[in-house]
Amino acid sequence: MDQILKVEGLCRTYGRGSVIHAVDHVDLAVEKGEFVGIMGPSGSGKTTLLNCIATIDQPTGGHIWVEGRDITTLKPKALAQFRRERLGFVFQDCNLLDTLTAFENIALALTIRKTQTEQVEPLVKETAQLLEITDCLNKYPYQMSGGQQQRTAAARAIITQPALVLADEPTGALDSKAARLLLDRFEAMNQQRQATILMVTHDAFTASYCHRILFLRDGALFAQLERGSLSRRDFFRQIMEVVGRLGGDQSDVL
Ligand SMILES: Nc1ncnc2c1ncn2[C@@H]1O[C@H](COP(=O)(O)OP(=O)(O)O)[C@@H](O)[C@H]1O
Ligand SMILES: [Mg+2]
Repeated sequence: MDQILKVEGLCRTYGRGSVIHAVDHVDLAVEKGEFVGIMGPSGSGKTTLLNCIATIDQPTGGHIWVEGRDITTLKPKALAQFRRERLGFVFQDCNLLDTLTAFENIALALTIRKTQTEQVEPLVKETAQLLEITDCLNKYPYQMSGGQQQRTAAARAIITQPALVLADEPTGALDSKAARLLLDRFEAMNQQRQATILMVTHDAFTASYCHRILFLRDGALFAQLERGSLSRRDFFRQIMEVVGRLGGDQSDVL
């Protein structure tokens, strides 16, 4: 299998004097077509880790390779191009542009990539179908539910066929029904489009959609769970067990 992401010795500290080790020597790798979750309590460094991979934050140590390219050494212009062309993002707040319809929001990702005009409409429609938002294409964000907005953001993230989709608490602002719908669509993106997804969440239900989960605590990875052939329900139970043990005596987690 092709390796999409490799992270080695990644560190991100904040402040001087009493330094915060937000990300502390993290190593991880993600293969093409994987759906990987990063779990951990609030403040464990999930967003910082994801933002370093997203090139939004700058690591203070270590290296990140995407498709074999070390992105920690890229200059600002190359970095912007890399981010635009190889990454897709879904954040907790969908960041759609209020003055554009869903169609236009999704199409914008293609326009920025200079996709030929005649290809735009079929691509947007096809992606909207996958995300089950065809009925929303002519609506503005304020006319859509939170779940529809998030699915639109997901469509925008994958329409350019990025190497890696990065999602930070994508269900964080959704009710449980909308969360389930979004996660079903993430699953479809992964299975039908072979999208490689790295998703940060503190929520066990959301994490149960992943194939593999990395657990983060105090900026360091300390455990990993593989779903294998488990049903999502059984995987959820296993995740809850790890999370439960985390809440108590933490010395016996591994
Ligand atoms: N810009 C920043 N300046 C200072 N400290 C930060 C900054 N961003 C995050 N931190 C600290 O780094 C740690 C990890 O934060 P974060 O990555 O947001 O965790 P999570 O996403 O798991 O809740 C926390 O202690 C947080 O307070
Ligand atoms: Mg966070």
